[in-house]
Amino acid sequence: MPAVSFQSVTKTYNTPKGPFQALDGVSLDIEEGEFFGLLGPNGAGKTTLISILAGLTRATQGRVLARGHDVRIDPAQARRQLGIVPQELVFDPFFNVRETLRIQSGYFGVKNNDAWIDELLENLGLADKANANMRQLSGGMKRRVLVAQALVHKPPIIVLDEPTAGVDVELRQSLWQFVARLNRQGHTVLLTTHYLEEAEALCRRIAMLKSGRIVALDRTSELLRKGSGSVLHLRLDGVLPPALAARARVTGNMVQLPVRDAHDIESSLAALRAAGLQAQDVEIRRADLEDVFLHLMAAPAPLAPENIAV
Ligand SMILES: Nc1ncnc2c1ncn2[C@@H]1O[C@H](COP(=O)(O)OP(=O)(O)O)[C@@H](O)[C@H]1O
Ligand SMILES: [Mg+2]
Repeated sequence: MPAVSFQSVTKTYNTPKGPFQALDGVSLDIEEGEFFGLLGPNGAGKTTLISILAGLTRATQGRVLARGHDVRIDPAQARRQLGIVPQELVFDPFFNVRETLRIQSGYFGVKNNDAWIDELLENLGLADKANANMRQLSGGMKRRVLVAQALVHKPPIIVLDEPTAGVDVELRQSLWQFVARLNRQGHTVLLTTHYLEEAEALCRRIAMLKSGRIVALDRTSELLRKGSGSVLHLRLDGVLPPALAARARVTGNMVQLPVRDAHDIESSLAALRAAGLQAQDVEIRRADLEDVFLHLMAAPAPLAPENIAV
């Protein structure tokens, strides 16, 4: 039985401008014990999918199961399987950190939870903030409390929706160490992020979402292999010829060109010379997940769900 099963999930929001389809037939199984990444640009539908799993939003069509419990038919059991760290910082300003975690334990009927609460506080660098009022905490500290809150009932499935957006490097590292340890202990982890290097380092499998559809779903290593080849890095004072610009990534005067092989490298450099441009600081590096991601996101139309190569 998968830890999480999304089955043909569709979501249409009613907006003042008319219906808007945020999810279009998303099907995806996440296995027990996996560290799974859900990637996609802003507006792809990641948070909508997580909200449906959390029971906060209703799917227009389709089913979602958490360890076999349908989030619609059996919401209490489904919710118990899940520890969800939301993207938005939501908290009650009247309680201190420990009280917040005790109250959350109470929601799940977990009594005498202080030993685990202390362990969470310790691992998330919150030990000296246990008695601090929530409204006194910085954004990064509030984010840590949200993580602790999600984990208070030791959920088998941990869901993190962009947990490191706007978070300092120190928290990122301690958070990932802790989450990786929980994953080694058997917890399933579902992570959404647009920090691709994080997903590349942590996730065994990745789904890429674009405009509410899955455009890639594979092991991270396979995605990297498929996006194989290299990237030509160079500095350029001048404007790229259109043929190269179409496939280049340009940041200021730094240009990155995906290349398949040595011949491709030669012809790219020749095209630059022919345009009267001089490339400087030329380097070649292996393609990474960001290259795969950008390539897929640049594709004109997403694949229909039945055409995805798995
Ligand atoms: N409550 C809502 N009402 C109308 N549109 C929404 C609502 N929530 C999200 N959307 C739209 O659905 C799309 C997907 O949003 P979201 O799931 O937040 O994407 P992501 O988390 O990948 O950035 C976006 O275009 C967003 O504007
Ligand atoms: Mg989001």
